[in-house]
Amino acid sequence: MRFKQLAIEGGAKAVKQTGSYPTKIHVDELLELLDLWEFPAATRKTLATAIRKSAKEIKGPHLFRYYNPRPSKVEAAEKKFGKFIGVPYCLAVNSCTSALIAAMRALGIGKGDEVIVPAYTFFATASTVGACNAIPVIADVDDTLTIDPKDVARRITPRTKAIVVVHMLGVPAQMTELKALADKHKIALIEDVAQAAGGSYRGKMLGSIGTIGCFSFDYYKILNSGEGGFVTTSNEWLYTRAQSWHDCAACWRPNRYASERREGELFCGENYRMSELQGAVALAQIRKADKILNGYRTAKQRIVAALVLPRGVKLQRLADPKGDAGSNLVIFMPNVEKTKWAMKAMQAEGVPAGGIYDAKVKDWHIYTHWDHIMEQKAVAPDGLPWSGVKKSELPAYTMDMCPHALDYLSRSVIIGVNSNWRAADCRAIAEGINKVLAKV
Ligand SMILES: Cc1ncc(COP(=O)(O)O)c(C=O)c1O
Repeated sequence: MRFKQLAIEGGAKAVKQTGSYPTKIHVDELLELLDLWEFPAATRKTLATAIRKSAKEIKGPHLFRYYNPRPSKVEAAEKKFGKFIGVPYCLAVNSCTSALIAAMRALGIGKGDEVIVPAYTFFATASTVGACNAIPVIADVDDTLTIDPKDVARRITPRTKAIVVVHMLGVPAQMTELKALADKHKIALIEDVAQAAGGSYRGKMLGSIGTIGCFSFDYYKILNSGEGGFVTTSNEWLYTRAQSWHDCAACWRPNRYASERREGELFCGENYRMSELQGAVALAQIRKADKILNGYRTAKQRIVAALVLPRGVKLQRLADPKGDAGSNLVIFMPNVEKTKWAMKAMQAEGVPAGGIYDAKVKDWHIYTHWDHIMEQKAVAPDGLPWSGVKKSELPAYTMDMCPHALDYLSRSVIIGVNSNWRAADCRAIAEGINKVLAKV
């Protein structure tokens, strides 16, 4: 066989043009997405027919945020959310768990360090400390159900690198006191805003007050994209490091393949990237954040204004009532028996009431159920994070180490507010609560 002249040497190209094929992700996937929205059958059929009919003209999506030939939804969501929170740097990630790890790694937290977390929070706040090979130190909460600055002060040691303050149940924590403590000890203040996106403290948005903020956009949160999260900060260096950690090989620094500008810019990270699917949903949610928050706040205010509290019954104390996102209403009852009864009686009235703590019922939001920490479990034979400090320096993890958390949480009736409730719904909910409280 005679070899033809190579194209590189001026010969004819072997591949002049390939056929025109649909993109990797095309109309089948779009139709699958339609089903997530549960259209009426006739609408679904009309849409499917129209989509299939114009399949040739439809260009498929590019669901990876980088290398995207179109404007990235993830990038747009970052810009919009950063503006909403009031910070210059905002990084989209795939969960708040990822956001917390990226934040701690950005801060350089690792083996032998201690990070203070509240006794009442979703377990991820504490587990991520361990995942960074650091030691979670658990501090009590007070009648705000957020971390008690006085207990935090007692638990600071020379190994403490950060405090994670959690704005639990949509309410702002006591930021003035916590910020003063963090500044005094020159340690970072990480805000876990998973449950309080859009909340504020003394006029400043939560997630813009501490060193770095971490948000969740999972399905159950105020704003959601099914799964997702954001890291917010005013510190360019922390943003750069969080961004590097979230994209395994520190790929997307200002100059992709350049050597590091400063020590600490290159390291082995993980992959927490948000997909364009999540980015698109998150962007739409952020656009209507004010409306959603207004719905929660108005509903909660209407209910609270109509409540008649008998002696011995109190509402959760709010560090800043104006900054409350309004997603939950917590009523403290005089004792555990009355709490259990009131919760059931309110449910019977149609009020979506629940209890928070029952020692016998497993709940990942209360430290006594965190077996992973209480029993110091490790993922590998190296025994980390627990082996990272001397045994004598490990905190004593005991069931009764945060007595106020157990007391308040076992006397709490919690009502999840719905942002769509109208005035009549709020009146009915308040009436249901009042009927029960009158019998306490
Ligand atoms: C206070 C708190 N922190 C962190 C998380 C973790 O968020 P994600 O599910 O996005 O990882 C949650 C989720 O429930 C949470 O409530």
